[in-house]
Amino acid sequence: GYLAATSNQGQIASAPETAAAQTVTILFGSQTGNGKAIAKSLAAQATAKGFAVNLASMADYNVRQLKQETILIAVVSTHGEGEAPDDAIELHKFLASKRAPKLDALNFSVLALGDTSYEFFCQTGKDFSERLTALGAKQLLPIVECDVDYEEAAESWQEQVLEAVEPLVQASGASVVSIDTAKATSESEFTKQQPYEAEILLSQKLTGRDSDRDVRHVEIDLGESGISYEVGDALGIWFTNSSGLVNEVIAALSLDANTEVKVGKHTFSLEQALLEKKELTQLYPGLVTAWAELAANDELTAIAADKEQTRQFVLGHQLADLISLYPVTIDAAKLVELLRPLTPRLYSIASSQAEVENEVHLTVALVEDERAGQARFGGASHFLASAEEGQLVKVYVEPNKHFRLPENNDTPVIMVGPGTGVAPFRAFMQQRAVDGVNSDSWLFFGNPHFEQDFLYQVEWQQYLKSGDLSRLDVAFSRDQEHKVYVQHRIAEQGESIWQWLQNGAHFYICGDAERMAKDVHQALINVAVEFGGLDEAGAESYLEDLRSAKRYQKDVY
Ligand code: 2AM
Repeated sequence: GYLAATSNQGQIASAPETAAAQTVTILFGSQTGNGKAIAKSLAAQATAKGFAVNLASMADYNVRQLKQETILIAVVSTHGEGEAPDDAIELHKFLASKRAPKLDALNFSVLALGDTSYEFFCQTGKDFSERLTALGAKQLLPIVECDVDYEEAAESWQEQVLEAVEPLVQASGASVVSIDTAKATSESEFTKQQPYEAEILLSQKLTGRDSDRDVRHVEIDLGESGISYEVGDALGIWFTNSSGLVNEVIAALSLDANTEVKVGKHTFSLEQALLEKKELTQLYPGLVTAWAELAANDELTAIAADKEQTRQFVLGHQLADLISLYPVTIDAAKLVELLRPLTPRLYSIASSQAEVENEVHLTVALVEDERAGQARFGGASHFLASAEEGQLVKVYVEPNKHFRLPENNDTPVIMVGPGTGVAPFRAFMQQRAVDGVNSDSWLFFGNPHFEQDFLYQVEWQQYLKSGDLSRLDVAFSRDQEHKVYVQHRIAEQGESIWQWLQNGAHFYICGDAERMAKDVHQALINVAVEFGGLDEAGAESYLEDLRSAKRYQKDVY
């Protein structure tokens, strides 16, 4: 990756002690790219000020260097139940281990990214901060904990960091070591902030008429944008909320769609702000608290007073539900102020440009629910599922260098992708077929019913026939009395799986993080115990070694 290539430039091992020591090392660990973007922006500003900067992903950082650092700036996010993002796992573990050195000479600052809807808000950032302190390092400024609307807090943190760092760097008279901008600009000019307006070519239902799920195959035209992506990358989608939902919200609050409201520095009609600028389909705890005050409702006040109840409520409701359950009087300006900015959603790309050239394909499950007889939908998935041919959508590529095909074409691959988790494996297979890769490949797919939910069935069968796909194992969970999941298939095939791993196979998981990926991980542990003769701890460290060697990769959400 381009950042990996830059990461050693600031480290002048043979340079005089002070110069090397006063380098500003900026490390990021984040799953979505937000942390990377913040770290990059800080690095650019620090470089412009003439500071010596070393910018790197935590995954590429050599922990042995820690002892020499004097200024360490960390941007790190938190996932699920307080877990570190993949990039940060190793450094996070190292700091807690007995191997961690004393860091008396170190000054640090942590920017923690998180989501207040989760119980362990910003936990990884807090862990970094606590462990660095425990090792003797000094905080340059107190940890800054950001919620999903992190932009403002992150900006002011950057300013404070630069100010705090300045006297330290000047004292050392450090020379400028610039980051590798040549590589950085080879990225697409289209970004999260400046997305490309693309045309939707197709949105087609993949699941059968009688399926419980509505999963779409979506094709998007990248036209002359020059956007390129690699298999394993994700596509960011800036969606607009449905006009039906926006009208419902406006009517339910007896507001006027044409009232002018401010969002940041700009003025919009209320309708436009709700369509394009504000999050309507995801609640957050702070809104529940604010709403409880407005509604003066005992039930909602009780929910807001309890963290777990608030979490459940936020997961199971939208703004429109909140309004109909707990009516309030609110004006347009206040409503807009309370709502969070709309954020784009990331989808694992289901195509390879080797096959589809200037198109990008996605596999999208429509998020739908019914509350009090009302259908409720997920923002982006509803937008994509109801898109008409020719409709426009703002997109950008979010690179994911931790989910990549093996560099060596002789390496076998095992791919586990139940549900829409199969998306990147369609991309993998397209790429392998075009490249004529003939190492072994094995796909595990699962979904409720064979008849209704076998996503891309014809394509897998063609790949089997052409020999591009060596093996396919399916788990249709509801076609028999007891549930059968991908991890059961893995267990059944334990001996072969172990054989493949012994032969150097890479193992990939994509899909549900909360249960599936954990269950598949456990199934792998069991395979290593049963067929590798390891004990449980040995099996864990075997998988950890695979992970470090980039042979065990996950794209889970
Ligand atoms: P279920 O909904 O019938 O329980 C894609 O969503 C597929 O993943 C479905 O067949 C679903 O089964 C299954 N699934 C649910 N929980 C799972 C788990 N913990 N591990 C693996 N697959 C799971």
